[in-house]
Amino acid sequence: MKGDALADLASSLPDGDAFLRSVASPFRRAIRVHPRRGQPSGWGDLVPIPWNPAGFFTTADCDPGDFLDYHTGTIYPQDAASQVPVLLLAPQPGEVIVDTCAAPGSKSTQIGLALGDDGLLVCVDAAAPRRRVLAENLARQGITGGVVTPMPLHVLAERHPHVADGVLVDAPCSGHEPRSQKQVARMAERQLTLLTEAARLVRGDGRLVYSTCTPYVAENEGVIQAFLAAHPGWRVDVVTLPGCDVDLAGLGAVRLWPQRQGTEPFFACRLRAPEDLPGSDSLRGREPPADRALSRWLPDSPLRCWNNGRTSFIATVAAAACALPSEARGLVLAHGEGGPEPWTAQMLIDRGAASIEVDATTAKHLWAGESLALSAPPSVFVRRTSGAPLGLLGGAVDARRLSLPSRLFRSALR
Ligand SMILES: C[S@@+](CC[C@H](N)C(=O)[O-])C[C@H]1O[C@@H](n2cnc3c(N)ncnc32)[C@H](O)[C@@H]1O
Repeated sequence: MKGDALADLASSLPDGDAFLRSVASPFRRAIRVHPRRGQPSGWGDLVPIPWNPAGFFTTADCDPGDFLDYHTGTIYPQDAASQVPVLLLAPQPGEVIVDTCAAPGSKSTQIGLALGDDGLLVCVDAAAPRRRVLAENLARQGITGGVVTPMPLHVLAERHPHVADGVLVDAPCSGHEPRSQKQVARMAERQLTLLTEAARLVRGDGRLVYSTCTPYVAENEGVIQAFLAAHPGWRVDVVTLPGCDVDLAGLGAVRLWPQRQGTEPFFACRLRAPEDLPGSDSLRGREPPADRALSRWLPDSPLRCWNNGRTSFIATVAAAACALPSEARGLVLAHGEGGPEPWTAQMLIDRGAASIEVDATTAKHLWAGESLALSAPPSVFVRRTSGAPLGLLGGAVDARRLSLPSRLFRSALR
């Protein structure tokens, strides 16, 4: 290819040949483990990821969708490098975080878990079909602080400047395919525009994390240098993470490489906003009137439950009151008089709602949609002995079954 940027990059690296070989091979598979949904099981050897205590490399050479742990939200399949940006963003309970390129939600779910049941996570993405997958992933992981908005990023930044304690730009990028220098330069321009729009959302002294899964310097160090040149007062907040490399321009950012860490090529940098920028609470709207439905399962929950006449929702107070149009907000607790929706049932179980345990084999039969004779009361939450939350048990005494929509039933899971 004319002006092959991948070959140019390789020739500048001390281990360029190994880079070219590794970047064309599969990367090490990895998962991230939910903090409240028990131990993953059936994965073979799980090797800790040095930079994330919640992450593991897995030797299981099969699709994560073959595991019950995936369907119950006990794990989230995520490249080990992709787990880095949220570690840099370090969201804290109670904060307002905007994920500007959020779909399909690897990092949004990670942020949502860090916020817990206090705070607001605004998820933006330009692609409507990808936002639907994102909403499903947030629900499967039981994220209560999420608001998925169709509002374009530049509109959000114009109407709600300085609202966020932390903003993530996990930018679209050239990936690791061979590209011409011209293609890379065009992508870098687009990324700088996104980063510039996202920066308007950050409050004084707030964090802005920029990441890509491409090795190209122009899309990584180059974008950060161009941003800093145009934004006096902003600085790189220097980070190091165990087992990760430093960036190629001495900025204080992080790099990962397929030939070194075994991950996809990755770059992540944390920027810090000037202290004299203002802070704004313009995302805070009216709280919906509280509904007591939630107290039946979680009497002491800090979450807000409300009903719009047809549907009950459950969310953090900040997400419930968020003044943005939304396609998803917290979790749907129930439609009409029905019991909890599947993903909400799992969330209630992982927050400590009373539940009974079943063994691994029974769990797999139940998730396959089978009816079983179980000595269990009707309408009781059920989880696997490993901790994985399964859902609500219903049916007759000699034919108990899991209430899930049929589209969620899967057989032959590990
Ligand atoms: C690298 S992917 C994000 C992956 C995601 N952060 C995750 O971890 O699952 C980049 C995303 O940016 C979105 N995107 C591209 N241009 C955008 C824009 N102008 N505003 C918001 N999102 C955009 C794409 O639709 C795509 O979903």
